[in-house]
Amino acid sequence: MDRLGVTTRLATGATALGDGPPPADARTELREIIARYPDPRSALLPMLHHVQSREGYVTPEGIETCAAELGLTTVEVAAVVTFYSMYKRRPVGDYHVGVCTNTLCAVMGGDEIFTVLQEHLGVGNDETTADGRVTLEHIECNAACDYAPVLMVNWEFFDNQTPQSARELVDRLRAGEDVHSTRGPRVCTWREAARVLAGFPDGGASEGPQAGPATLEGLRLAQEHGWTAPKPGERAEPADPARGADGTAPKPGERAEPADPARGADAQPDAPGQPEAQVASSDDETAAPAGRPHSGSDEPVSTAQSDPAATTAEPGEAGTSTPPREPELTGGGRHAATSADEEQP
Ligand code: FES
Repeated sequence: MDRLGVTTRLATGATALGDGPPPADARTELREIIARYPDPRSALLPMLHHVQSREGYVTPEGIETCAAELGLTTVEVAAVVTFYSMYKRRPVGDYHVGVCTNTLCAVMGGDEIFTVLQEHLGVGNDETTADGRVTLEHIECNAACDYAPVLMVNWEFFDNQTPQSARELVDRLRAGEDVHSTRGPRVCTWREAARVLAGFPDGGASEGPQAGPATLEGLRLAQEHGWTAPKPGERAEPADPARGADGTAPKPGERAEPADPARGADAQPDAPGQPEAQVASSDDETAAPAGRPHSGSDEPVSTAQSDPAATTAEPGEAGTSTPPREPELTGGGRHAATSADEEQP
């Protein structure tokens, strides 16, 4: 038998729907999911969440049922199940506790938290406590690095954790207490969460804030400085069109000098949305477009950094850059962030 129990079951004559048909209401809901999409196979991901909501994990029977409903092979469905880490192939406890041990969380304490929880719960990675309450797993980045180190319980965030807070959290979960994410929402069970992911809302989607202060810090800075993203189709021109955008960057070990050494390097960096700054090299007068300003004495220094006057000259004038546009982010909070993001080309 393969790891999913599929191959042997089919080879030995088991029906395509497993040992027994799923309950009628389960089958009805699977077809309800399929009906949401113009192409039935697009429904596979929520269908697999639905299977997890019924069975606790993606069972071989669940794979066979999804395959039969969608006209796919079990191998095709199994390939999807094994690709995505949110699908589990063995039973999960009531609370799946995912500890982020990706780079930022790891260095901020995620590795220590994971070690402490393993010892505290007496389980290894991807194992469940004897009481069936908690499954512990180390997980990859959850795009919540601004609150590192983070845990997730059934995909709800627990920000800025410590070994002590993590221990207390799992103790409360095992004791059956009502637990809320640090962002507000109540933590439901693994199966309840899977049902929501299958597209059957529990009414809690709007609980808690959508973005906290740390997440919005970049937006706050953009508003403060009047930084905006280029509009679709807008293209930043090189500061010196005569030199074009295909100049060569300084070679490793080359030291770029400020275009006007008398002004020093204490000017402010250019803002996003402005044209790329030019780089001057001490032994090569050919300037090249630079990326983001660098720091450190061995790094290239842009003329925009070294020569504030460059930002006030006329566009197209040699050694100059286009003045920044007027600030456009006037709102605050999530909608302003979304608006800024949507302006990306
Ligand atoms: S590294 Fe943990 S959320 Fe990004």
